Amino acid sequence: MTSSSPRIWFITGISRGLGRALAEEVRAQGDHVVGTTRDGTSDLGAGVHAVPLDLSRSESPATAVRAAHAVHGRLDVVVNNAGYGLLGPIEETRDAEATHLFEVNFFGALRVLQAALPLLRAQGAGHVVNISSIAALAPMAGSGVYAASKAALSALSESLALELVGSGVRVTSVEPGAFRTDFLSPHSLRRTEARLAHYEATSGEAVRALEKLIGQQGGDPRAAARALIQAVRAPEPPLHLVLGADAVGRTRAKLERLGADVSRWEEVSRATGFPRAD
Ligand SMILES: NC(=O)c1ccc[n+]([C@@H]2O[C@H](COP(=O)([O-])OP(=O)(O)OC[C@H]3O[C@@H](n4cnc5c(N)ncnc54)[C@H](OP(=O)(O)O)[C@@H]3O)[C@@H](O)[C@H]2O)c1
Repeated sequence: MTSSSPRIWFITGISRGLGRALAEEVRAQGDHVVGTTRDGTSDLGAGVHAVPLDLSRSESPATAVRAAHAVHGRLDVVVNNAGYGLLGPIEETRDAEATHLFEVNFFGALRVLQAALPLLRAQGAGHVVNISSIAALAPMAGSGVYAASKAALSALSESLALELVGSGVRVTSVEPGAFRTDFLSPHSLRRTEARLAHYEATSGEAVRALEKLIGQQGGDPRAAARALIQAVRAPEPPLHLVLGADAVGRTRAKLERLGADVSRWEEVSRATGFPRAD
């Protein structure tokens, strides 16, 4: 590939939301898309090829990556976008609910990476983009298990970036705030089945605030797509791309709280080593 030839983007979940907006914007900017939908079809038109993927089926990611690679004989940008949210207090989350969420949001993405990385390393170039969430950096009440699934993905991205030093393959973890997609709608979002009155004031309140946000989210998916493409094209792409004014605010507040805890407890923290021999 020369620097002027179109890049091939592999994007999971192009049926709707951020994935669809990204596929449209990538096409508008002249690159090609091989995207995934559950049934392997897409109405996005010329320059967008679809392959089937269901992240809850463990063999599906490897098959999808192989099929996607075969379309143009290479993949330049691999975007782990598909995922969903789960609302409800941690205590009332059933094992099956948490397991399915991690299967899709974390293990599915991991399997995509494990299938794609040999191809990117063989090319000596490529970019992995994992769509995480601001919940990974600054979790709120009411979505703890979702936050944990995305925190796992953000941590994986950081470690992967270190492992890939010298390979020509870059890694970016994207942490969006609230963007106006189906994400919060009943079509996408799941709710824990159990209900405990004890958590009404904390988790319940947070969930009600999210419900009020449906259709009012400040983030524009097309603008997110343009920002992501800009980051991928940058000479020095970011390891973390926090998207949305809300996400920037929550990240800064989190960094302050973390810094304050480290400072306040620094003496105690440092005093936990073995006594020095000298
Ligand atoms: N929108 C936000 O406010 C926001 C904020 C932070 C992070 N995110 C993250 O951004 C990503 C995209 O979300 P979105 O806002 O675009 O939500 P969305 O509108 O609900 O779209 C979700 C996409 O993921 C696909 N998907 C879900 N489960 C899947 C599975 N088991 N196998 C294959 N594909 C699956 C969906 O396909 P179907 O159409 O077939 O269901 C759809 O294409 C997610 O990872 C989400 O966690 C979103």
